[in-house]
Amino acid sequence: MNVTVTSKLPSVGTSIFTVMSALATQHNAVNLGQGFPDFPMSKDLTDLVNEAMNKGFNQYVPMRGYTPLLEILAEKVSGLYNTSIDAGSQITITPGGTYAIYTALTTVLQPGDEVIIFEPAYDSYIPNVEINDAVPVLINLQFPEYRIDWNEVKRKITPKTRMIMLNNPNNPTGSVLREEDITHLRAVVQDTNILILSDEVYEHLVFDKVPHQSILRYPDLLERSFVCFSFGKVYNCTGWKLGYCITSPSLMEEFRKVHQFNCFSCHSASQVALASFLKNKESYLSLSSFMQEKRDYFQQLMMQTKFTPLPSYGSYFQCYTYANISDEADKDLSIRLTKEIGVATIPVSAFYKAGTDNKVIRFCFAKKKETLEAAVRKLMEL
Ligand SMILES: Cc1ncc(COP(=O)(O)O)c(C=O)c1O
Repeated sequence: MNVTVTSKLPSVGTSIFTVMSALATQHNAVNLGQGFPDFPMSKDLTDLVNEAMNKGFNQYVPMRGYTPLLEILAEKVSGLYNTSIDAGSQITITPGGTYAIYTALTTVLQPGDEVIIFEPAYDSYIPNVEINDAVPVLINLQFPEYRIDWNEVKRKITPKTRMIMLNNPNNPTGSVLREEDITHLRAVVQDTNILILSDEVYEHLVFDKVPHQSILRYPDLLERSFVCFSFGKVYNCTGWKLGYCITSPSLMEEFRKVHQFNCFSCHSASQVALASFLKNKESYLSLSSFMQEKRDYFQQLMMQTKFTPLPSYGSYFQCYTYANISDEADKDLSIRLTKEIGVATIPVSAFYKAGTDNKVIRFCFAKKKETLEAAVRKLMEL
């Protein structure tokens, strides 16, 4: 018997990350494409996981998360952003940042709701909106600084606008929000029923002493926001797929209704380990300078190539334009670089629904020095 299904996401294909990583493996290329560190995560943290497992933390923790981890997160928020949040009712541990985002959208979106998404955008956003029968309203970040044009945002607001999605620091561009962006955001949502989703999975990875404009700094905005984080991204263990969401108690009550019947509760030993690990503030305060050093080293190496850097203020990523080298499409160049030069990157057009090509490719610098050096040696051939 032939069974058939009607696709809920007919326009979704294989992601560019999977395509480029497969191509990188096939051609034995240095992979600066997909966003994951190739250096080991903290041994202190893996030791704490082993210890937790050996001590018997192998059964379900509460649906919202392991209580000491929620408490230390609330303490961290208070210390970093001077905002008091309630550990019990405002935080939920999730299996990764992407899941937290999907759950938040599924919690609140009704068919026909409009969601403002800035492009280039992380690839899960549009499908996550569409699967809820809501409508993505796309706005381009202004090239080449990739800042938000708030006048365009105002023009695109309609009575159906339900949510504005932010990604700060931004993947793929490394742009970050400034205080004036928060002022504009506040003006746009004031006296409306518009919610905010703030994807802050690259929290702490903000460089040059620029303060991270987390929504958590702004209690008035937090009331209408889901703020999503990833332990995997910041503690160099992307494979753990562990993250969390922070919101108001009333929005969290609804969020948990969806979470409860999907995941219910997340990996226990990792939560026990993180609860101890985060007691030492250096575990997160050291992250910015650690990753900035990688960005600076990569930028310095890349000066030997013909690529022109665009600014990167945060995240794992640095974009480069090649407009002065070649006029081929960014996807074609990425494929050629992988096959002929031996370096995998991601074409930034892949982050636009319409495939907008500004002749920019994204490099992930969250790699060992040797990896960055090997990649740049090859790129110098171009
Ligand atoms: C902007 C952004 N959000 C979310 C995620 C996913 O985080 P996680 O692996 O914790 O689901 C990523 C990962 O690449 C990302 O770049």
